[in-house]
Parts: sequence; C-alpha cells; structure tokens
Amino acid sequence: MALSPRGSFITLEGSEGSGKTTAARHLGDWIRSRGEKVTVTREPGGTPLGDEVRRLVLHLRDLSDDLDPRADALLYAASRAQHTARVIQPALERGEHVVCARYLDSSLAYQGVGYGNDLEEMRRLQQFATYGLLPDLTILIDVPVEVGLGRKRPGAWNRFEDTQGVAFFEKVRAAYLDLAAEEPERFRVIDGSGTVGETDALIKR
Ligand code: TYD
Repeated sequence: MALSPRGSFITLEGSEGSGKTTAARHLGDWIRSRGEKVTVTREPGGTPLGDEVRRLVLHLRDLSDDLDPRADALLYAASRAQHTARVIQPALERGEHVVCARYLDSSLAYQGVGYGNDLEEMRRLQQFATYGLLPDLTILIDVPVEVGLGRKRPGAWNRFEDTQGVAFFEKVRAAYLDLAAEEPERFRVIDGSGTVGETDALIKR
C-alpha cells in the first residue's frame, strides 16, 4: 500500500461482521510500525458527540423500528461533521495518516439504499457533513451476508440486527459494490471471508 507523505485518509467499509474494526486497528499498528503517525478512529463515534450519537442510534433502534429515515441520516451526519472537523482534518493537517472504520459510504449504503432515502440527497448531505473531504482510499471488505452475520456473537447483536432481515443486508452489500464500481480509483474491494490474517495481508498489498 502506498501512503501519501501529506497524510493519507483511509476508510474501511463493509456490512455487519465484515471485520472493519479489527482491520482498522491492525492497519493502524502496521502504519505505526513503519515509523509513521496514524490516528485510528471510527463512525459513528470518534468524538464525545459522536459517541453519544452512536449510543443514541443503536439504542433507538433497540427501542423501536420507527426511527424516521431522514432523522437517522441527520444523526449520522452530525456525528460525521463533528468528527471530520475536530479529528480527521486536524490530524491530516498535522501530517498524520487517518484510518477510519466507516465514513460517508456507510450513509450512502445504509441510509440511502438500505433505508430508501434519495441517494442524490444523501450525497449532498455527505458533502455538507464532510466539508467535501473524501478519503484517499476506501477499502471495501466484502463478505457474503450469511458469513458476516454468522460471525457476530449472539450477545453482540442489537435488536436492529435481529429485526433487519437478510434481504436488508443483501441490499447494503450490493450498494457498497455499486459504489465501488462507480469510483474504482478511490475504492479497493477485498474478499473478507478468510481469516483475520488473510484479510490483513490483502489490505497491506
Ligand atoms: P459498526 O459499529 O461499524 O457496526 P458493525 O461492526 O456491526 O458493522 O456500526 C454501527 C451501525 O451503524 C451499523 O449497523 C451500521 C450503522 N451505520 C449507518 O447506518 N450509517 C452510517 O453512516 C454509519 C457510520 C453506521
């Protein structure tokens, strides 16, 4: 993997159980082992506000399936704006690399295609929330839906994952693959159905 001297912004995307969080941590360790500075972070989260949004959206989903799709999109967008402005952009300006598990493509795949918000409106919302900051590289860890869902420990499931059927996650997976096909210069799609070590090796390539 080629890293930019100004600080590369790398995002990891994928549906449930694709292993983004572990892969982000390992990629961060690897970059650090090369003597470079890196911030490893995730969405929703990465700031005190983002952590509250994370708690809120996951909790709201546990309480009810009635969360309005636009309200949902705006909550993730609020977390993303705070994260971009206060964490990601400042780190890049200090010359650090940033590795982030989930970013704007999550909202295009879930809030757009998954929940049926208009995709063009979602793109405009992401442009606003991110101040137009796009990742230099987005690694899509693609796994078959049954494999991803099968990896989740039963205790780690929230009710959202229980109530969203396989069809929802199939839609999200297909949406990600479409996004990757639209922007082949930004995306790299890797097969995440192997072991953690195999996924790490594919990412570093
Ligand atoms: P995450 O912790 O990455 O979940 P997992 O490890 O199970 O993939 O993300 C939490 C949930 O938030 C996940 O169900 C996807 C959802 N999400 C969105 O719907 N839109 C977004 O923009 C983001 C960042 C996450």
